[in-house]
Amino acid sequence: MIPVFFDCDTGIDDSVALLYLLARRDVDLVAVASTAGNVPVDVVTANNLAWLEVCGRGDIPVHVGAPTPLVADLMTTEDTHGPLGVGYAELPTATGSAAPTDAADAWIEAAAARPGELIGLVTGPLTSLATAIRRDPALPTRLARLVIMGGAFHVHGNTTPVAEWNVAVDPEAAAEVFAAFGRDGAAPPIVCSLDLTESVAMTPDHLVRLAAAAGSTPVECPDPSDEPGLRSVADNVLIRHLVDALRFYLEFHHAHDEGYIAHLHDPFAAMVALAPDIVETVPARVAVELAGEHTRGMTVADERSMTGEPNARIATTTDVDAVFDDLIETLSALARS
Ligand code: BDR
Ligand code: CA
Repeated sequence: MIPVFFDCDTGIDDSVALLYLLARRDVDLVAVASTAGNVPVDVVTANNLAWLEVCGRGDIPVHVGAPTPLVADLMTTEDTHGPLGVGYAELPTATGSAAPTDAADAWIEAAAARPGELIGLVTGPLTSLATAIRRDPALPTRLARLVIMGGAFHVHGNTTPVAEWNVAVDPEAAAEVFAAFGRDGAAPPIVCSLDLTESVAMTPDHLVRLAAAAGSTPVECPDPSDEPGLRSVADNVLIRHLVDALRFYLEFHHAHDEGYIAHLHDPFAAMVALAPDIVETVPARVAVELAGEHTRGMTVADERSMTGEPNARIATTTDVDAVFDDLIETLSALARS
């Protein structure tokens, strides 16, 4: 079994990443950490607990991170993810509650219990991981692998013209995390930035295929060139929740003239965490701009070692069709179970 620690700001695409991890029978999801980002941290926690219970995995602990970034005020993005962070999905309120250990200590304990084995995956701001590294500077050396969804290197940002959301929410945390890797035996994290994750574009047809593969009643899908109008009539509970979450995300992208598609940043990062060979990477030294009036939160990649040794491996290419084939096969198996 592959031990995975998942740190997220759930979040529509974080939800799909969580379900993907739960669906993988070879994964031991050690713990989930809630970090403030897309929605406030108590909402993130409620979502994580709810998804776990919907999947019958209320035994997996959920650890709560800080309510705010290290330095900045918290910004949230309900217009992207819905008022409760899960689009139109109406998840049942979880009966369980969060674990007593906070997210940062949970990182430290999970890594210390499995030296050299734990795979860390972060699909939200890096606040909790940065806090953990402040408390335990040797933490990076104990991870087998770290995968981060964040940054925008050779493409526009999605929060400011140059900054990607997860880094923009807590730039100081991102800067501290990158600075802690690529030295003292801490392997550079694989970074799934917008450069690649925006090519992982889900269409309504993927949801139609997912419902069919799950043996659910079909999802009604309009002509893709038509106005948004995807309807979830799925009789499978998990498929219904997923489609209700994702059709909000489709509408968000459509409203921003990106087409009736949705970028599945976080599920893609989850796949890379489990199978890093699905991407090609380039080594780089990543720095985060903290001071610029117009560039705060920008991630700068030095791919020529002009400023120091590489502290990241930036994912550059993948087979997008294979990514969706895997996602549909894996999630449909969870829905059928
Ligand atoms: C990231 O921002 C969030 O809104 C998504 O969940 C994803 O992790 C993409 O920039
Ligand atoms: Ca996220």
